[in-house]
Amino acid sequence: MKSKRNMIILILEVIILVIIIILYMNYKKGMVDINTLKVFKESSYYQEKYHDAYKEIKYSDNNQFLEITNQLLDKNYRPDEINNIFEYLSDNNIQKLLKMPYVSLENYYQIKNLDVNNINEYSEYRQANNLSFEDAVTEVNLHLNQDFYTDIKTIADPSSITVLVNKFNALPSDYVPTDLVNVGEYHYQMRQEAAKALEELMAYGKTENVFLIPFSTYRSYDYQKDLYNKYLSEDTLDTVDTYSARAGHSEHQTGLAADMRSSSLTDNVTDSDYEWLLNNSYKYGFIIRYPKGKSKITGYMEEPWHLRYIGQEDAKKIHELDITYDEYYDLYIAKY
Ligand code: DAL
Ligand code: ZN
Repeated sequence: MKSKRNMIILILEVIILVIIIILYMNYKKGMVDINTLKVFKESSYYQEKYHDAYKEIKYSDNNQFLEITNQLLDKNYRPDEINNIFEYLSDNNIQKLLKMPYVSLENYYQIKNLDVNNINEYSEYRQANNLSFEDAVTEVNLHLNQDFYTDIKTIADPSSITVLVNKFNALPSDYVPTDLVNVGEYHYQMRQEAAKALEELMAYGKTENVFLIPFSTYRSYDYQKDLYNKYLSEDTLDTVDTYSARAGHSEHQTGLAADMRSSSLTDNVTDSDYEWLLNNSYKYGFIIRYPKGKSKITGYMEEPWHLRYIGQEDAKKIHELDITYDEYYDLYIAKY
């Protein structure tokens, strides 16, 4: 008896839910199908010459919808293009578009790290290198169509745990992290969060017979400068640039990087310890920052010993995606 009553209540609940969903969908459809022309007509933005175009443009809840639509029409964007612009582009990209002459965004709308300012460079670079649209966008965003150490930007938020430091992004010369602490019993310093994570990683390693210790962690701007210059006295500039960062461009200045060695070696990791790091360091928030075969992107030869702390969530995603931090940053952290 009671279960029959419960059954009826459940059925009634489902019916009510279905009715609500149908009403909501009709409401949304109404917004899409009817309103644009009507909204224009009721506003001071209506322009007779765009009457037919308005009919094909889907209403968007962008709060400058009328103004932007007219501006895009003035630039000769077609209604179908305008629909895609409102559907896929960030507000920031839309604002940039309004400051540029007409460009075709065909094939680019749905690319998440699209920066419309680079649209011409994407096309040129894609054709020259026979790339997918997605790869062309990421590589141009990372300046890989330029020489390293050109068009360098000074990093605005050097203390961010996810800061991207590379040959195009430099730390301010006076940047020193404020929370440096020793890593366990070692006299090497890292930022507090990274030091703790590294201690945990090392402790976990011991339980699996992997004995890793740091041999270089935080390095000041001046220290890096001296180091780079010392290398320059031993090697050509081109060679030094494959293994040492110029001052301001080293992750070691962030206090988030650690060069690790197997306790049996002086400045490297054994193959098996490296294998272990590849499979485990992400669990404690670290990535191998300069992986094998990625020097075109990172600008450095493989460095199996260089760990970079970025936090567990991002490290896990990078591990799964198997991409460099440069690419990850552009795809998932940078905002366009
Ligand atoms: N060896 C790495 C790239 C550095 O100098 O920071
Ligand atoms: Zn290093």
